[in-house]
Amino acid sequence: MIKKYSIKELLDKGKFFINKKVLVEGWIRSFRYSIFITLNDGSTIRNLQIILSKKLEKEIQKKITIGSSIQVIGIITESIGKKQSIELQSLEITIYGSVDPSILQKSILQPKRHSFEKLRKQAHLRFRTNIFSCIMRIRHHMAFCIHQYFHENGFFYLHTPIITTSNCEGSGKMFQITTMDLKENSIDYTKDFFKCKTYLSVSGQLEAETAALGLGKVYTFGPVFRAENSNTSRHLSEFWMIEPEIAFFHLEENINLAEDFLKFIIRNVLDKNMEDLLFLNEFLKKWRKKEKEHLLDKLELILKFSFKRISYTEAVKILIQEEKKQNIKFFHPVVWGMDLQSEHEQYLVNKYKIPVIVFDYPSCIKAFYMRINNDGKTVRAMDILFPEIGEVIGGSQREERYEILLQRIKDTNTDKNKLWWYLDTRRFGSVPHSGFGLGFDRLVQFITGMNNIRDVIPFPRTPNNAEF
Ligand code: 4AD
Ligand code: MG
Repeated sequence: MIKKYSIKELLDKGKFFINKKVLVEGWIRSFRYSIFITLNDGSTIRNLQIILSKKLEKEIQKKITIGSSIQVIGIITESIGKKQSIELQSLEITIYGSVDPSILQKSILQPKRHSFEKLRKQAHLRFRTNIFSCIMRIRHHMAFCIHQYFHENGFFYLHTPIITTSNCEGSGKMFQITTMDLKENSIDYTKDFFKCKTYLSVSGQLEAETAALGLGKVYTFGPVFRAENSNTSRHLSEFWMIEPEIAFFHLEENINLAEDFLKFIIRNVLDKNMEDLLFLNEFLKKWRKKEKEHLLDKLELILKFSFKRISYTEAVKILIQEEKKQNIKFFHPVVWGMDLQSEHEQYLVNKYKIPVIVFDYPSCIKAFYMRINNDGKTVRAMDILFPEIGEVIGGSQREERYEILLQRIKDTNTDKNKLWWYLDTRRFGSVPHSGFGLGFDRLVQFITGMNNIRDVIPFPRTPNNAEF
């Protein structure tokens, strides 16, 4: 049996394979001078050069098209070309699947620049492009190192339900799920599948809290769903969130953890994905028609300094002052008590030139579960704001005092009957605890430098878009 290798394995070890007989499989990226085939199998951004032997030339030359999938058995030799150290002298080639040249013309496999909109419309071929495969490999490594981070720090991975009866965040619309015919006029949900109205979850936090108050440290990593009609470059209707929840933990500890966690992920991508980052950097430079692209500097900068920490009240004061002083006009004038808009968030991040952590937000704009401060007006919330993408993390210390939590539930018109199981956590040895949610896709967007969040997720779900 001839051993099968991925292109990454072959190119990583390079000269070690010289004179060895190997088997590789992949898709043809280009075919030049009727003898040079460049092959890619998705394992790396690099291609393997295959030399078509004289013997095979006549037999298969005409059948070779861009996009065709092939198996090659051959001998690895040193390459005289500058671009690669090794190449494969073919002995046998099997074509698995070819591509009709007439459909190739219209596809994104055609070797020229295609718009991201066009890429999004070709579900499976998108994975064959250099740009999207780079993003997917980085996305994978990020997910992998997130599990590593929590595992090494004593957290347990918790699977929270996707089907739920409660709206954790209280704001925004949820997707309802039902097996009933909604055309009927009066719907009796006690006859529905779960005997009550159910939705797709917007967050696993409430369930994570119940687990943390027994296991100590847990985290979730799963899809969440929000039916807001926000057609922006930072919003998805289905996105992936990571939510650690920690017992015996105060807001400052929570903020420290979040900052350390973000830096760990970025450091890891810089360690493990350099060739993909370098490709992205070159791509962005051409795409944005810039002399120099700063993707790597931007990531290094996040690691270099401590994030700026300011209270919401301070942030509002600064924004109002700067508005007066510098003649900036925000589209949404700043007043204490308002939710910061992305123009305000970006102003703060640009001012300090590092990520900004805003904490102690007014209670009126935050969810019911956040701990009330002694001033009675603000809660122990924190948002981490990044350049370009804005809020990447939202978190808080939770209200652990039963009576106060109950009052907040009433004040925010939350249905307490649906939350008896959650309230119970505050009746059996309640403890100070905290957690946060990281928008995974937003962080992938930041790291890869993409303008649109739809370009960093395999199958984006957005308003009017769920075809594949
Ligand atoms: O700030 P959010 O709504 O926080 C929560 O859901 C809390 N339960 C988290 C917790 O304390 N355990 O969402 C968390 C993060 C945001 O900071 C943002 O990065 C991301 O999720 N996010 C979205 N990402 C993509 N598309 C959307 N529609 C998003 N909405 C929020
Ligand atoms: Mg938020």
